[in-house]
Amino acid sequence: LLEEFGVSSNGFLPEHLPLDILPDQYYTPWEDLMQSLNNHLDAGTFRKHADQLPILTLHYLSTEQEQRRAYVILAFLAHAYIWGGDKVSETLPPPITIPFLQISHHLTLPPVATYAALNLWNFRTTDPTDLTNLSAIHALHTLTGTRDESWFYAVSIAIEARGARTIPVLLLALRAAEARDFPAVTAALRVLAGCIASLGDLLERMDERCDPGLFYHRIRPFLAGSRNMAAAGLPRGVFYDCGGGRGEWWQLRGGSNGQSSLLQFFDVVLGVEHAVAGGGVSFHQEVRGYMPDEHRRFLEYIAEAFPWGLRKVVAEGGGDGDGERLACREAYRAATDALAALRGKHLQMVTRYIIIPSRQPFCAGGAVNLATASSRVGEDAGSQGHEVKAGQSQLTGTGGTALLPFLKQSRDETAKAGAI
Ligand code: HEM
Ligand code: ALA
Repeated sequence: LLEEFGVSSNGFLPEHLPLDILPDQYYTPWEDLMQSLNNHLDAGTFRKHADQLPILTLHYLSTEQEQRRAYVILAFLAHAYIWGGDKVSETLPPPITIPFLQISHHLTLPPVATYAALNLWNFRTTDPTDLTNLSAIHALHTLTGTRDESWFYAVSIAIEARGARTIPVLLLALRAAEARDFPAVTAALRVLAGCIASLGDLLERMDERCDPGLFYHRIRPFLAGSRNMAAAGLPRGVFYDCGGGRGEWWQLRGGSNGQSSLLQFFDVVLGVEHAVAGGGVSFHQEVRGYMPDEHRRFLEYIAEAFPWGLRKVVAEGGGDGDGERLACREAYRAATDALAALRGKHLQMVTRYIIIPSRQPFCAGGAVNLATASSRVGEDAGSQGHEVKAGQSQLTGTGGTALLPFLKQSRDETAKAGAI
């Protein structure tokens, strides 16, 4: 079953390390530009080179690995193009747009730097036998050329790898719940609670090598999408120019770990419900469209086959039950509490990495153009940096949410599931 849904022994990470270069010489222009991406961005020459790229076809990509690599490349080129200049670019040129739209369509992913492009398919490790070994992981590509950005991605990779072991355990638990095998469900929930606690430990290691000021002012501006980004200079989104007077405007969410299938899998298994936003779907539901197709189908399958996850069975019988049921309910509460606590830790990270730096000017030398670009994303950081209140109300996550209210709600919804 897991194989059918593209879930590997590394969970939602691929079974084999992602490709670091497209083998066919035909793609040398892309690979060359990726090699010099950071230098060109620093020198302000990236767009000129991107405009001069030939428009390549996808015909010489022969494996899924290669297709994923092409998607990663084009996502990086697109975000470098949009955010990597003195002014934001509302338009993507045909050499990026045309292949990017094609490969995205083929992989049924949106043409933007998704979690798959930045994280799942963009890493290396010096310890291939243990992907949870955070210190051994680095990103294949970054937009800033900083170890801080590489570390930011690496933490997510290690979290995915650490979480992977719970997937088969929880699938068995869903079956065990149907059979009312409470001790088996209890055991699985205890594994889950323990695992989630260790994910929190990994999350907290962000501080080791990712500096909040650098993250806020230089890294995250590049990760922003084109949706809810009016303040950042994209009131209409981004125009994907296909040449010959053709093209279209897109408004897409930018990269965010909210697109991680792992956390959503926990939600589905525990029966955590996320509120529906104005448009009729929750953020969580919507960003499934930003996940690799098989993983999206995996979540849909679980949600359909086990509509309340473990929750309904665990809650059966009201407050009174035998010892086995009570122990199971206790384990369920502990697991949901652990997930709510993880979201609480995440909120603290958001305070440290977004809210606080948004109030402080950034004064690292040598990155003038990028620092300017960043102040456009968090508009408040540049022009109104000292008006904390006004600034905060304008902050937008790279994924296009209003940050704190959204994340607090998500945490509270998790805690609520445990109230049985
Ligand atoms: C969502 C910030 C690291 C998991 C978000 C959002 C922000 C954010 C602002 C809201 C979506 C948006 O509009 O962008 C940060 C920052 C991080 C960080 C500043 C580190 C410096 C991580 C990591 C994980 C993670 C390592 C892995 C567990 C999530 C999840 C969501 C989310 C699951 C969706 C909301 C939810 O399900 O509760 N993050 N994030 N984040 N992030 Fe992070
Ligand atoms: N989603 C994260 C942010 O808004 C990366 O900074």
